[in-house]
Amino acid sequence: MTELTSQKDAALTAIAGAATLDALEEQRLAALGKKGWVSLALKTLGQMSPEERQEAAPAIQKVRAEVADAIDAKKGELEAAELEAQLASETIDLTLPAPMIPKGSVHPVSQVMDELAEIFADLGFAVATGPEIEDDWHNFTALNMDESHPARAMHDTFYFPDKTGEGKDVLLRTHTSPVQIRTMKAIAAANPGGAPVRIIAPGRVYRSDSDATHTPMFHQVEGLVIDRDIHLGHLKWTLETFLKAFFEREDIVLRLRPSYFPFTEPSVEVDVGFSKQGGRWVVGGHGDDEGHDWMELLGSGMVNRRVLEMGGFDADQWQGFAWGLGVDRLAMLKYGMDDLRAFFDGDPRWLAHYGFAAADQPTLSAGVGAAS
Ligand code: DAH
Repeated sequence: MTELTSQKDAALTAIAGAATLDALEEQRLAALGKKGWVSLALKTLGQMSPEERQEAAPAIQKVRAEVADAIDAKKGELEAAELEAQLASETIDLTLPAPMIPKGSVHPVSQVMDELAEIFADLGFAVATGPEIEDDWHNFTALNMDESHPARAMHDTFYFPDKTGEGKDVLLRTHTSPVQIRTMKAIAAANPGGAPVRIIAPGRVYRSDSDATHTPMFHQVEGLVIDRDIHLGHLKWTLETFLKAFFEREDIVLRLRPSYFPFTEPSVEVDVGFSKQGGRWVVGGHGDDEGHDWMELLGSGMVNRRVLEMGGFDADQWQGFAWGLGVDRLAMLKYGMDDLRAFFDGDPRWLAHYGFAAADQPTLSAGVGAAS
């Protein structure tokens, strides 16, 4: 019996010291479980003589009851403590402001691309895309810049080390103009000799250049219109109509200056009248008016007949105009940012300030500029 007593004392100490319900359950199994020491003690009764049993049984039962009571008491204590802790940790303070749920926003470049697509859709333009990884034929040669053309050098091109299967250089497109060629070729394949074209091609372009107004990756939107009897007047009206809608003002004045691009003939540089208001450039008004000036906005011209031919069009039947415009620049002018580099730093504070609330609908620009 002394063994039973010392086992009991040890068990009561362990039960009192159990810190968790799991630890207590361990103690219960060790004592009262099938192979627990109390159960084993009860089994010994079977081998005893009736006299021994009469003496031993009540003692073992007493120990069993003591241990079971101690476990029950401790269980109640631990459960109460656990509930207490749970209540303390789950307290809801209804006076606290609701937690902020961070929300993404639409990048100004995506926003402007969507605005462009929307405005030009109203004018009957479709959105065309092309690959950002181009070959030199589409990026240069087909745009009337053959290997020796000096304009190639001005593009600060990123080249890949390998050539295409046909031995052409592979590069990151330096402008969206190769989409003109890809679009013309696709249309001419379906309509030998050509057919009307009215597209814009917004997307990413790349040049090895970096300062406050240049980033190695930036965005352009190309425009291409081909039809019969198209002339520079159509170009001017189209750009004017677009800019009025984009800047939401009627007093947009354009100035066309003679220029040179290999892919247009004649080529024009398009300037827009603007004024400086409180350090901000505000588009609008006649550039020669008091307090105003001209800002160079984009390059354009009548599509060079050699480019039409490279695209599979009969240049005696079809004419067209094209333009290339910096999207980032447009965003800066409309929404008042002054450092282009911040566009692509990915700083959430900048985006929270300049970003736009996400619409419920997927944006057009999500699919624009992706390699296709
Ligand atoms: N591709 C030219 C550039 O990135 C811009 C340009 C000029 C595009 C005249 C045109 C155009 O379509 O007609 O510098």
